Amino acid sequence: METTNIPGYAYGQVNRSPVTLAELELLKQTVLFSAADVAALAQAGQVLAPQTDAILDVWYGFVGAHPYLLRYFSLHGQPDGAYLARVRARFGQWIIDLCTKPYDQAWLDYQHEIGLRHTTAKKNLTDGAQAEPLIHLRYLTTFIVPLTATIKPFLQNGGSSTDEVEAMHAAWFKAVTLTATLWSYPYVKEGQF
Ligand code: HEM
Repeated sequence: METTNIPGYAYGQVNRSPVTLAELELLKQTVLFSAADVAALAQAGQVLAPQTDAILDVWYGFVGAHPYLLRYFSLHGQPDGAYLARVRARFGQWIIDLCTKPYDQAWLDYQHEIGLRHTTAKKNLTDGAQAEPLIHLRYLTTFIVPLTATIKPFLQNGGSSTDEVEAMHAAWFKAVTLTATLWSYPYVKEGQF
């Protein structure tokens, strides 16, 4: 069980994912995820950890600059500052988890939980928010691009070689694609994931 004081962060304490580890293995093969990516992500975790706040400033800036995204944190057009702040802390932890956690049953289970938290099943529940009840799937997938494009300068800040930065960036792209794919599960019709 995890010991962290981040409100609403429930890694290791959630229901089992309907996706099996065998299915996850095939998804990893599909995004060309290898042992080299695990190593590159571990390195990325070390580079990114001290920069988490600056990364989140960029991502929150992106959301804040696009009203059609900010609405998911808003009620009647008014952004909910407390909600934004609580999600931000968990988002920061996600950066570290994505890079450093083993992709085992606990990780798989938490991916399903995060997916649910983007849908009507669980959105707003964790933080007692009253914002939009659902994040549309189309933005979950397209968000892979800004999250991947904007991480590169931060990967370059760690004094790594150009080849290492490229390897970390490629591994990050695969990992984010993998997670966004797992998060799509609750959106699709039963049997069609
Ligand atoms: C929650 C990442 C797409 C808005 C979260 C959390 C993470 C995350 C890590 C917190 C999970 C936890 O509770 O532990 C991502 C990633 C995305 C993505 C990696 C795409 C690849 C989006 C988009 C929006 C969005 C497009 C729209 C603005 C939110 C909101 C929450 C949330 C409002 C809080 C949900 C709740 O009420 O619990 N996201 N997200 N996310 N995200 Fe996303």
